[in-house]
Amino acid sequence: MNKDAQGRAEIAVIGGSGFYSFFADDAEEIVLDTPYGVPSAPITVGEVEGRQVAFLPRHGRNHEYSPHTLPYRANMWALRMLGVSRVFAPCAVGSLVPEYGPGTVVVPDQLVDRTSGRTQTYFDEGGIHVEFADPYCGELRRAAVQDTAIDGGVMVVVEGPRFSTRAESQWFARQGWTLVNMTGHPEAVLARELELCYAPIALVTDLDAGIESGQGVRAVDVFAEFQKNIEPLKALVRSAVRDAPTGDCPTCRVHTGITLPIELP
Ligand code: ADE
Repeated sequence: MNKDAQGRAEIAVIGGSGFYSFFADDAEEIVLDTPYGVPSAPITVGEVEGRQVAFLPRHGRNHEYSPHTLPYRANMWALRMLGVSRVFAPCAVGSLVPEYGPGTVVVPDQLVDRTSGRTQTYFDEGGIHVEFADPYCGELRRAAVQDTAIDGGVMVVVEGPRFSTRAESQWFARQGWTLVNMTGHPEAVLARELELCYAPIALVTDLDAGIESGQGVRAVDVFAEFQKNIEPLKALVRSAVRDAPTGDCPTCRVHTGITLPIELP
């Protein structure tokens, strides 16, 4: 149902591990196909705080996709097809600083890409290089910093799907980086290429291996911690949606000045 997709939502929420739904069960579901394949799941649309919102579970409804197999390009393109201009991106992260324990919410302001082999652009022809010094939208970040959320931090994105070794993790911490995650890239840069405002909302699920002695990070604990915090996290996202700016963003809309490689339907 690609026809008539435009104008269906202004804001998107991309749910992370354990964040698989956002609306009541009867929310409208939109199945989209894109030049880059199908997105991780059908997208649901609904009203939140008087704003039209699209929700996409990043890993699929049943966590079918691993961070390195996610259809990042299809996901961001599908949101753009719906008319979305602003994207909140909740995600699970490990902490690289002991003070930010499980349950802490951080809105990072920088990222470091340690992924490899992921397609991170829509543009294969030469001459197109988007600005990425500040990878996230400042205005949208401000809306995301709610309640006790920490304002700022560096999120290093690793290839996964394995967790980091203790030595890698200690090295990340020594660099002064704050958080470690597996999905924050290339999502952010693809949003930038599509001139979408993008802000991550990182929920700490664990202290990474270099920070805590003992066995190291286990997936089962990451999922359990995310589940424990899912309702407060959804409440925070709803407040962020309420406070999201309206109208054209003065920075994200003019980053590229480029024409998309394939016209939107
Ligand atoms: N996601 C949640 N916790 C993580 C960790 N410790 N490393 C990488 N990604 C994560």
